[in-house]
Amino acid sequence: MDKLSEEPSRREAFVKLGIGAVCAAGVGAASFGYEFLSPNVLYEPSPIANAGKPDQYPVGSVTQDLKAGIYLVHGPDGFYSMSATCTHLGCLTKWNADLGIIACPCHGSKFNERGVKVDGPAPRPLPWLKVWLSDEGDLLVDRATTVPPGEFLRT
Ligand code: FES
Repeated sequence: MDKLSEEPSRREAFVKLGIGAVCAAGVGAASFGYEFLSPNVLYEPSPIANAGKPDQYPVGSVTQDLKAGIYLVHGPDGFYSMSATCTHLGCLTKWNADLGIIACPCHGSKFNERGVKVDGPAPRPLPWLKVWLSDEGDLLVDRATTVPPGEFLRT
């Protein structure tokens, strides 16, 4: 056997190149096919926030859940929840217990503990959110569902 016969012929080299190109095209088509067949779903967090047991909120307390962007208030008439997002341009408001107001740090809007605007450029009160008790007795807040102000949950 001479040295020339051990080296791949030009024809074998083109065949191997062709097989490689077909394999690369197959992998590309498979990956596009997988992406095409995968459901085009946007996974968003649930709008339902679990605030835990009602007995941890004394009457008169205003509790802010920064992660959920809500206030949970235990007033004399019962529980209610409000969005903590300012109705002016959407900044996150903050409860000031010393002054007894909810204040927006962006343009100075202020709201009372029922979400009614008392000062600043906010055009609307803070929206009240649906609150109910789960079967396990936890307070649940639906951040996607507003209710008329004055709709209390009595426990
Ligand atoms: S965003 Fe709150 S006052 Fe402007």
